Amino acid sequence: MQTRFTELVGCSVSVQQAPMGTISSPDLAVAVADAGGVGTVTALGLAPEALVRRLDEMRRRTSGVLSANVVSEEVGEQLVVDVAERVRLVDFFWFDPSPRIVELVHRSGALVGWQVGSVAEARAAEDAGCDVVTVQGVEAGGHVRGSTPLRRLLPEVLDAVDVPVLAAGGITDGRSFAEVLAAGAAGARIGTRFIATVESGAHPAYKQAVVDAAGDATVITDAFADCPLCATSPRARVLRAAVERVAELDDDVVGTATMGGTQVPVPRGSGVPPVAGAEGHLDAMAMYAGAAVGSVTDIRPAAEVIAELVAELERRLPAARRSGVR
Ligand SMILES: Cc1cc2nc3c(=O)[nH]c(=O)nc-3n(C[C@H](O)[C@H](O)[C@H](O)COP(=O)(O)O)c2cc1C
Repeated sequence: MQTRFTELVGCSVSVQQAPMGTISSPDLAVAVADAGGVGTVTALGLAPEALVRRLDEMRRRTSGVLSANVVSEEVGEQLVVDVAERVRLVDFFWFDPSPRIVELVHRSGALVGWQVGSVAEARAAEDAGCDVVTVQGVEAGGHVRGSTPLRRLLPEVLDAVDVPVLAAGGITDGRSFAEVLAAGAAGARIGTRFIATVESGAHPAYKQAVVDAAGDATVITDAFADCPLCATSPRARVLRAAVERVAELDDDVVGTATMGGTQVPVPRGSGVPPVAGAEGHLDAMAMYAGAAVGSVTDIRPAAEVIAELVAELERRLPAARRSGVR
């Protein structure tokens, strides 16, 4: 099913699995890429050599489309070049679109995506030369850039820019996927649904908490502001239960997590989520999740999640075909 996004990046399913820090494990990204979507990992927290090794290894494992996400202007130019030489799409978020960085990526042969939270930021991304703009609605899990619901922001951004637009925030099933394509998006960026997959880097208890959450069990909070992104704007959507639990504890350290192969302490209020191998008060760690978490009801292989999204979209195709889908 072709859209402007699939044609541009060369994938067959118009879904980008969201970058999600350690949760977006190489296994997850490779599984999504193998299933026809865009598999994404995050650069944050990895030494440059480790990142390069990881991307090379992922490249050997799949012939699908891969993406890597950068969330800080502070990364060196060489790192941006190293990443751009290894993935089809370099994805940026949380800092102002930069023509210099876009040019750097283009010169290294990759495409540039920028996730934005407002119309003004979408225009700035297009003006900076980005090839894809991802519109993040306030429903999104993880760090939230803007304050407008996707349903309102998406049409405004579609009117404002000409490049292909991905919709992000609260898309967990075929119905919401079909809705954003019908509204004119060229694809969806999906995060929360992929936390509850076999391949994700989330701790089993975090996956289960996502499955168990009913309705909108989330809240935007600054309770986990001990993180590099929160240094500029402490706003992340997490499971409300985690905010309540961390408020009950007065320990300085709530547990440990495996980072870069070693077990490190997780201070109370840290932005580190309960990753596989974490120990301690997992329920008081940053359980990022989007507002549509209630519709995630099982833990499945990523390929099955993609297949179901596509099957449901095809059932709803007459509606979707009206705009975003070719
Ligand atoms: C666990 C988690 C971690 C995230 N980490 C990142 C990240 O490292 N970089 C980034 O650009 N976006 C990150 N996001 C936000 C996603 O890019 C995207 O906006 C969001 O997942 C879309 O909403 P959804 O979760 O409702 O699908 C994260 C989201 C989640 C759920």
